[in-house]
Amino acid sequence: MPFLFTAEKKVQLLWCTITISMSLDTSAIRRQFPALQQQINGHPLVYLDSAATAQVPMAVLEAMSECERHDRGNPHRGMHVLAERATEKFESARKTVAEFIGAATHEIIFTRNATESLNIVAKSWGKQNVKKGDVVALTLLEHHSAIVPWLQHKEDIGIEIAWVGIDETGMPRMEELEELLKAGKTKMVCITGQSNVLGVRPPLKDIIKTAHASGALVTVDATQLIAHHPVDVADLDCDFLVFSGHKLYGPTGIGVLYGKRKLLEAMPPFLGGGGMIGNVTKTGFTAADIPQKFEAGTPPLAQAVGLAATIDWISQYPWKDIEAHETKLIRAAVTALADIPDLKFLPNFARDKVPQAGALLSGCISFIIRGSHPHDLTDVLGNRGICLRAGHHCCQPLHDHLNIPASTRVSVGIYNTEDEVTLLVRAIDEALKTLA
Ligand SMILES: Cc1ncc(COP(=O)(O)O)c(C=O)c1O
Repeated sequence: MPFLFTAEKKVQLLWCTITISMSLDTSAIRRQFPALQQQINGHPLVYLDSAATAQVPMAVLEAMSECERHDRGNPHRGMHVLAERATEKFESARKTVAEFIGAATHEIIFTRNATESLNIVAKSWGKQNVKKGDVVALTLLEHHSAIVPWLQHKEDIGIEIAWVGIDETGMPRMEELEELLKAGKTKMVCITGQSNVLGVRPPLKDIIKTAHASGALVTVDATQLIAHHPVDVADLDCDFLVFSGHKLYGPTGIGVLYGKRKLLEAMPPFLGGGGMIGNVTKTGFTAADIPQKFEAGTPPLAQAVGLAATIDWISQYPWKDIEAHETKLIRAAVTALADIPDLKFLPNFARDKVPQAGALLSGCISFIIRGSHPHDLTDVLGNRGICLRAGHHCCQPLHDHLNIPASTRVSVGIYNTEDEVTLLVRAIDEALKTLA
C-alpha cells in the first residue's frame, strides 16, 4: 500500500515549508564563518560590528585561495595560460557584480574600497563638472568618505557644500533638499542608502527623482545598504553608486564604483599607470575605454574573485528572510536596551521616542549612556568577547549636530542571534556596575 499523508499532515508539512523559507537557519550560517567559532578570554565571540567590517564565510575564503593557488596571473597583461585564466576570472567577477546590482558590465569599476570610489566621483567627475560657486548637497547622515573628497574640492576651487538636516527620526529633511535644489546651483547630491550610525534608510527613489528634476546628479553611498537590502541601479536611476566588498561578507581591498556609461565615458581618468591607457608616447597618452580607464595598475584579482563568491553566497538567501531576521534582531536589541536606565538612543535621545525597528531602521542602532564613555564601555565589553564600535563612526558632522562627541553602535548581520543580543544587554548591565 503506498504511503499517504493525511490532510492534517499535509497542512503541517506545508506550514513547515513556509516557515523554513521565511526564516534563516542561523546555526548553519554561523558554522560557515571560521571567525565566529573563536573564544575571547574564555568567552564566546559576540560579533556585533558588521557595519565596520563583516566576517567572511568559508565559500569566499576557498574561492580566493583557489584563485591564488591555481589562477594567479596578471589580468589583461599576458598571453600565457595563467594570465588568461586571471583575466577570465576577473572579468567574470565584474559580470557577477553587474548582475547583482542591475548594471551593465562596463559600468562596474573595481576600486580598493568605497572610499576610493567616492574619491573618483569627486575628483574625476567633480573636477570636470563642479565649478567655483556650484553646490554639492550632503546630508548630515553622510560618512566622512562621502564628505571629505568634496571638502577637498571646496578647498581647491571654492565650491559650496550645502548640508541637508535630519528630522527627529533621523531621516533627511526632504523639504530642505527641495528648497536647496530649487535654487538651481546644486550639481550633485550625495546620499547614503543606509546610515552607518542610525540605521535609517532615506527614500532614495524620491531623492533621485527630485534631484534629477532640477538637473542635479545623485551619488548613492550603498556601503551599508548593500548587505541588507537588494540594490538595483536601473530601478533607482542613480548616477553613481559605491560600496565595499568587506561589508558584504567579502574581502577587504576591493570596492565598486557604478556609474552610468555616458558619465564614465566623459570623465577623465583618476589614476595614471599601466592598464588604463590606450597608447603612450614620450609626450602624451590616450586613455583606455571604460572600465579599464579607471583601473590603473595590477588589479585586485583574488579580491574580485572573492567578491563574486560572496555575491553567489549571499544570493542563496532570500533578501526578505535576511531583512526579517535582522529587523527581529534590531527590535530585540532596542527593546532590551531601552530598559537600561540612563541609555538614550540616537538621534533624539527621548525615552518615549524609542527608534522603531522595521521599515526605516536596519542593520544598526546607536546610543549613549549617561555617565559612561562609549570607549570605556566597549573596552570592558571587548574583553568579554563582545565587539561593538564606539566613537563618531566617521560621522562627525552628525555627532556635532547631536552635540555629542561619540556614541556606541550595535550592528547586526546575517549570522547574529537573539541569544547574542541577550548576552550583550546582560554584559552592558554588568559593565555599568564596574564603570559607575
Ligand atoms: C556609509 C559608509 N560609507 C562609506 C564607508 C567607507 O567604506 P570603506 O572604509 O570600506 O571605504 C563606510 C565605512 O564604514 C560607511 O559606513
